This record gives sequence, structure tokens and C-alpha cells, in this order.
Amino acid sequence: MDATLAALPADADHRAAERAFTDAGWTRAGAGDWAIALRAPDGSAAVRISPFDPTGPYTAELYRAAAHTRLVPDLFAHRRLTGGGDLQLMEWLTPVDESDARAFHGLIADRDEAVAELVDIIDGIHTRALRELPWCGPLDTNPSNVMRGADGRMVVTDLFYADGPALYSTAGSDPDLLVARIPEPERRFLTEIPLAASGPWPAESREEMRRGIAEADARTVQSGS
Ligand SMILES: Nc1ncnc2c1ncn2[C@@H]1O[C@H](COP(=O)(O)OP(=O)(O)O)[C@@H](O)[C@H]1O
Ligand SMILES: [Mg+2]
Repeated sequence: MDATLAALPADADHRAAERAFTDAGWTRAGAGDWAIALRAPDGSAAVRISPFDPTGPYTAELYRAAAHTRLVPDLFAHRRLTGGGDLQLMEWLTPVDESDARAFHGLIADRDEAVAELVDIIDGIHTRALRELPWCGPLDTNPSNVMRGADGRMVVTDLFYADGPALYSTAGSDPDLLVARIPEPERRFLTEIPLAASGPWPAESREEMRRGIAEADARTVQSGS
């Protein structure tokens, strides 16, 4: 396992994790809505760090269960971070042409024979995620989630995602419902996701949402529930 990850304190949150990897020479390699990625000094690995990612454990499970298909990234380590963040240490991947990515997602949607075993594994885990998570989206067919390993094969990444629009709209309009449905230790940094693809998300409105949730948490404590 990577020495930086091994040395990371058990209670590290996403900020401590990013700092530890950056201090060890890893460099910023990308940002999405939920997570950022850093690249290892030798270029061979990436670490995906999210402040708030309820689907991370399901993704890690998929990468492990489907490893033998070679259609998902090699996952070297997975860890939950304090406050509901998620860390995945995985092989370094590069983008593919959008047409290739769409074709790959098409094979999955059509349950093509070439990906049949992968699709069975995806279905099993996604069905459970839909049942267990208060907000879980459909499979993410964003073409940027199909990438290429150093060996040239195409893999699908980051297929599961929390239904961000519904979750964040509830967080803003009905924070009491949000705090009732997601325990505080699993959503402490909900307003810190990068939102690099769908953003920008101005600091003031992040702060307003954070305040609304804190007030809802305080009401829960007062009512003793
Ligand atoms: N293994 C990897 N190698 C290189 N870049 C990666 C890797 N995993 C993720 N990234 C990059 O990190 C960013 C966020 O990744 P992603 O897993 O798609 O999260 P999000 O949920 O934010 O879409 C994207 O810019 C993506 O290209
Ligand atoms: Mg993505």
C-alpha cells in the first residue's frame, strides 16, 4: 500500500488527506463535481478524494468485484474519510475520445455480450445502492467517466452517484428532512464538494446552506430525537 496513505491518521478528513498527498509530491490532476484527483510523483497512480461521497463504498465494491473483467480501474486502496468523505487510490487513467466513451456506455446499456459479466455485477451493486442510500442516481453515463489505463484498455469509472440535484435542493429547501435522512458524520462536508463540472457554487450560497443544515441539526438536538 502507498506509504502516504498508510501514514494518514485514522481520523483524517478530505483536507488532511489532500494535504498529506500534496506534501508527498502528488499534484492536482483533475476535478469533477464530487471529487478531485491527484497524481503520484511517479505518474503511475491517482488518488480520488471527495469531501462527501455516499456512493464511494459502492464504487470501491464494484472495482473489486469486477476486477477480473479488466473493465474497471485497478483499485489499490479505498478508505472512508472522517465526515463522509471518500478516498480511492487507483491506477492512473487518461481520457478517451468522446465517441469511444459513448460506445462503451452503449455496450453497458445494451447489456452487450462483451460486457455481460460486468453489467451483472453493476446491477447487483446498484440495486443495493438504490435501496440503501436516501438519494442515489441512475448510472452515470457521462463520457468523461470512460478512461484508459496505461496498458491501453478502456475502463468505466465513477458509475454510481448520489442524486445531487435532488439532494442539494432538499438541503436548501428542507434541511430538517436532509438531517433526518443522512447522519451528521456522513455529510459534515456536504457544502465542500468541488462542483467543477456543474458549478460555480458561490461561497455565500455554500455558507447559507451550511447554516441552514447547522440550524436543523440544532433543532434535532433540542427535540432530543
Ligand atoms: N484514476 C484516475 N486517473 C486520472 N484522473 C482521474 C482518475 N480518477 C478520477 N480522475 C479525475 O478526477 C476528477 C474527478 O473524478 P470522478 O471520479 O469522475 O469524480 P466526480 O464524481 O467528481 O465526477 C475528474 O477530473 C477525473 O478525470
Ligand atoms: Mg465523474
